[in-house]
Amino acid sequence: MSTPVDVLRIEGLSKTFPGQRALDDVSIDVRAGEVHALIGENGSGKSTLIKCLAGVYTPDPGARITIGGTEMGDSYSPSEAIKAGCGFVHQDLGLVPTLSVAENIALSHGYRTSLGRILWRSNAERAAKLLRVFTDDIDPNALISSLSAAKQTLVGIARGLRDASEGAKLLVLDEPTASLPEGEVRALFAAVRRVTKAGIGIVYVSHRLNEIFEIADRVTVIRDGRVVGTWAIDEIDERTLIEKIVGRSLEKFYPPATRTTDHEALLRVEHLSGSRVQDASFTVGRGEVVGVAGLLASGRSELARLIFGAQTATAGEIELDGISLRGHEPREAMQAGIAFIPQERRRAGSHGSMTVRENITLSSIDDFVTGGRIRSRKEAKAVTVTMDTFDVRPRDPERRFETLSGGNQQKAVFAKWMRRHPKLLILDEPVQGVDVGSAMQIYEQIEEIAAQGAGILMIDSELEDLCRLCDRILVLRNGRIVDELKGDARTKERILELIYIGKEAA
Ligand SMILES: Nc1ncnc2c1ncn2[C@@H]1O[C@H](COP(=O)(O)OP(=O)(O)OP(=O)(O)O)[C@@H](O)[C@H]1O
Ligand SMILES: [Mg+2]
Repeated sequence: MSTPVDVLRIEGLSKTFPGQRALDDVSIDVRAGEVHALIGENGSGKSTLIKCLAGVYTPDPGARITIGGTEMGDSYSPSEAIKAGCGFVHQDLGLVPTLSVAENIALSHGYRTSLGRILWRSNAERAAKLLRVFTDDIDPNALISSLSAAKQTLVGIARGLRDASEGAKLLVLDEPTASLPEGEVRALFAAVRRVTKAGIGIVYVSHRLNEIFEIADRVTVIRDGRVVGTWAIDEIDERTLIEKIVGRSLEKFYPPATRTTDHEALLRVEHLSGSRVQDASFTVGRGEVVGVAGLLASGRSELARLIFGAQTATAGEIELDGISLRGHEPREAMQAGIAFIPQERRRAGSHGSMTVRENITLSSIDDFVTGGRIRSRKEAKAVTVTMDTFDVRPRDPERRFETLSGGNQQKAVFAKWMRRHPKLLILDEPVQGVDVGSAMQIYEQIEEIAAQGAGILMIDSELEDLCRLCDRILVLRNGRIVDELKGDARTKERILELIYIGKEAA
């Protein structure tokens, strides 16, 4: 057997931020044609490693980075990284919201021109072709800012694949599936397999371990900025991998769910329609966790937005706790006791340049104001408790929000909404981008809130977790609720059948 060729070799990479060493003497190599998974807890240093590789951050002196045989200098620019043969899909995508889909895809390689004129048509056609791998549902001329988080991700991936298709050696995907439902994940994996067949190496970051076991050839675990180890994927099992990630043994995890529910109706939805959702009828009881499963285009996020009033219903009735919500706005929904944590969390719920403390208390600042003055001590105490409860790391309330790792930003936004003690909590992908340990904590919190009598409506692409956590699961297909699964019918296999084939499958 011939020795595998390394398309990437990183040796002795460290990166120090003011007051914190995010990476400590990291070495990793990626072979041609392999998928190399990079996993670790929120804040362990994955994105920092990728940004150093991409030329976005300059590493501490002493690192050696070789891309496809080219030794990079101590400091290089993002365009030099691309020129050396790297395509990147960063965790925050880096798309320009005010430009169109086609323009964003064309950007990194320059526009296609003829005699100095930009060929808009051909750029749009090329973008449409790249996107068709995933969906026909994205208009190349649409503005990025008008797209959902999941669709923006698909655009980012299409662009990364494009970069990796033209003389590339390495494609780096930082949590590409965080906002993608199962069906679109399939399409991504098919694309990944095509790319590796062409001899390109892939660095794949994800918190979804089932994905890692499906797509990766090797896996490297990092913890607190250090490499714990690298394994061939068939050399390690899930339990061991989780122990490597969290750095302790597993007894604490997977507690049995013992919540009992009395399903007195809290939310009643009848014949609700929107632009995609058609004639949806269901209830959510007090203390009940109701799941929603479906593909990206199934209308699952729209269902959530209709109930919250973020989108206007074209027909139907919504009643919360006996009060009718008709043609309501989000403000009225909030007054009625509904909290909604949308998928576009960063856009919808946080302020990057403000502190973590401000982000957590902003929406409930009234709790800390007496006689027109903010009670800082009370606020500080509440923030500490909240950060402890949701394990937001590092525990520094005065840090700028945008310097938190992706998963910790998610946890902070979740924490903020929980402070409002909602009657009905609507969650769109609550653990996306959150590591296994923290996901368990968030799921525990959801059960806790339900146990206190709140109703929960939860969209989640992690179908096994959905089955474990939910009393009932609504399955959406093409905008319609095709089935409602209870008891033993709640299985991943059954949901997938319904999602892809519909009720005829039975
Ligand atoms: N620009 C920055 N300034 C200061 N600290 C930073 C900055 N960027 C990242 N950090 C810190 O470096 C550490 C590693 O963060 P990084 O984003 O690499 O984590 P990650 O492994 O990608 O986590 P996640 O799974 O949550 O995305 C964290 O403690 C983070 O707070
Ligand atoms: Mg990250």
